[in-house]
Amino acid sequence: CLGLGFGVAASAYAEKPLVLGFSQVGAESEWRTANTASIKDAAKQAGVTLKFADAQQKQENQVKAIRSFIAQKVDVIAFSPVVESGWDTVLREAKAAKIPVILTDRAVDASDKSLYVTFIGSDFVEEGRRAGRWLLERAKTMPAGDINIVELQGTVGSAPAIDRKAGFAETIAANPKLKIIRSQTGDFTRAKGKEVMEAFLKTDGKKINVLYAHNDDMAIGAIQAIEEAGLKPGKDILVISVDGVKGAFEAMMAGKLNVTVECSPLLGPQLMKVAKQVLAGETVPKRITTEESVFPAEVAAKEFPNRKY
Ligand code: AHR
Repeated sequence: CLGLGFGVAASAYAEKPLVLGFSQVGAESEWRTANTASIKDAAKQAGVTLKFADAQQKQENQVKAIRSFIAQKVDVIAFSPVVESGWDTVLREAKAAKIPVILTDRAVDASDKSLYVTFIGSDFVEEGRRAGRWLLERAKTMPAGDINIVELQGTVGSAPAIDRKAGFAETIAANPKLKIIRSQTGDFTRAKGKEVMEAFLKTDGKKINVLYAHNDDMAIGAIQAIEEAGLKPGKDILVISVDGVKGAFEAMMAGKLNVTVECSPLLGPQLMKVAKQVLAGETVPKRITTEESVFPAEVAAKEFPNRKY
């Protein structure tokens, strides 16, 4: 069981709406906007009173928000941690106040797993592997010689940046022709993705065969940089990214992006369900993994009408 004593007063919550404090990373990407909308909509649907705080991609803002949720004595705290480490103190404070914490989207590296009830979100290592597997297949059809890859990483120290890098590197190691020649953060934003890709193009230009971006927004920014450099994204430079937002499908339909690995932001309904279960004293799994797929450009037009974000 949870071992925190949540649910002891379950009956006390029977009539009043559950109050959920949620600390969001920010509004850095199309994905994040969809994630915020999913959480707000689901709270409304579930009759949950949501206290929402935007951290503007700063850990200190998230810590402040969590402390304020503790002071307000919310029933449950949920958050998507901007980076993996540095959460132990504030999580211990929540535990001392007997407020259950649910992680969504991104994980923390706390050694004491009792500091949070569950983690709902994607398997980012697997997403990196899926991107790598697509490239391994594609490499079979590419001319002999080295295949030079540039990588746009997500926010430094964040779980998706660490895991997507690791999963991709581990997978492409199967083909020694595949070489990552540059790897730098673009902070999950279009503007930074473009800026860093411009720098890559300046130093390595025509040597670059493949771009692997840890999210669609950075890929879309980089696509612009590739075009401005007089090259064709999707052809001269293959473009691989992660998320599966509508913007990526549009880029695929325009022939500028080759594949996107899905990462679903639609976590709201599951979060509300789990928050209610936790408060009712029910045992929930420690890890709830989102089911996802891979969309190569060839299926983009067919899949586009089904996309929800
Ligand atoms: O944590 C999920 C990642 O964060 C998404 O891939 C990215 O777009 C977002 O900013």
